[in-house]
Amino acid sequence: MLRRLMLVLLCCCALLCAGCNIGIGDRHNVKIGVAMPTQTRQRWNQDGANIERMLLDQGYSVNLAYADNKPEVQVGQIDDMIEAGCKVIIIACVDANSLGEVLDKAKDVGTKIISYDRLIMNTDAADYYATFDSLAVGTFQAEYIEEKLGLKWGQGSYNIELFAGAIDDSNAIFLWEGAMDVLRPYIDNGQLVVRSGQTDLKTTATARWREEKAEARMTEILAGYYADARVDAVLCPNDSTSYGVQKALKAVGYNLTDKMMPITTGQDADKKNIPAIMSGEQSMSIFKDTRLLARQTVNMVNAIIAGKEPETNDIGNYNNGVKILPTFLVRPQFVDKTNLEEIIFDSGYYNRSEFFED
Ligand code: BGC
Repeated sequence: MLRRLMLVLLCCCALLCAGCNIGIGDRHNVKIGVAMPTQTRQRWNQDGANIERMLLDQGYSVNLAYADNKPEVQVGQIDDMIEAGCKVIIIACVDANSLGEVLDKAKDVGTKIISYDRLIMNTDAADYYATFDSLAVGTFQAEYIEEKLGLKWGQGSYNIELFAGAIDDSNAIFLWEGAMDVLRPYIDNGQLVVRSGQTDLKTTATARWREEKAEARMTEILAGYYADARVDAVLCPNDSTSYGVQKALKAVGYNLTDKMMPITTGQDADKKNIPAIMSGEQSMSIFKDTRLLARQTVNMVNAIIAGKEPETNDIGNYNNGVKILPTFLVRPQFVDKTNLEEIIFDSGYYNRSEFFED
């Protein structure tokens, strides 16, 4: 009788433990992979470092790698992470379509994949998605242009040029859709004129979102179509492309006094762009609090490791071509010189002293 009671008690304990969290102290044997695209942009260094620090604080071992913007390098790094026994791999992909094969391998051994910021396409081996709302990024950028040019009140015509991000990054596509939904009606009715005639995603795309590519394309456009006209606005998908566009504009004499800089948009509130936003040379950027995204992603990891369902807030919108990924979506905010102090400095995102002398 006593033996049977003991057995029942043991079974109950085993069942309870299977459902409970692994304690922080037990996590040092649990490896988590973090695959970031490149170290050439502040954004990914920051994301990589934030996630690594938060995972280490939670007691995990971390394999962090940057892929030098090369898809084949990233595939190799993810392969190494699987071989090393990572239980979860967090991936901000270089090329959304190149991970199918290596992720099949992850799936075979039960490694869970969190698609980070960029949606991994055309594979059923990606499990969850944590990201900012890129459609909203594009909408905010275009609405800024719409408001500053008074397009809603019928003003125009104005000259605009359009830049998109990297075509192999789904964020660039969402952003383009968000922006063009706002701008296209004004192009169609003539309030906005694209003198270069370059209005489709393919022609306006900027490989790897590179500053130099955007600068070169803007330089060509200015030489070819603006010898005797001024450009009033440039849709720039992020801060690196915006920086390149601003360099091209300044090289032909645009400034803050006589030949006024056009409205330029951006995204990320990169440190490099902050002085230009403060002076008004760059009209706006989109602030994406990467601390929140990293925190949310680490929460997902904790849930997966504990055998629970991670918290998500969007279960229907992110279809990667094969499946819909349960997603945690973080809302971005627009920032310009009127609210930069409050959003960027008061929140402690950057230290004021990095930009001002005492
Ligand atoms: C990110 C942007 C970033 C861009 C270039 C996109 O996927 O969402 O924040 O500026 O990549 O690195």
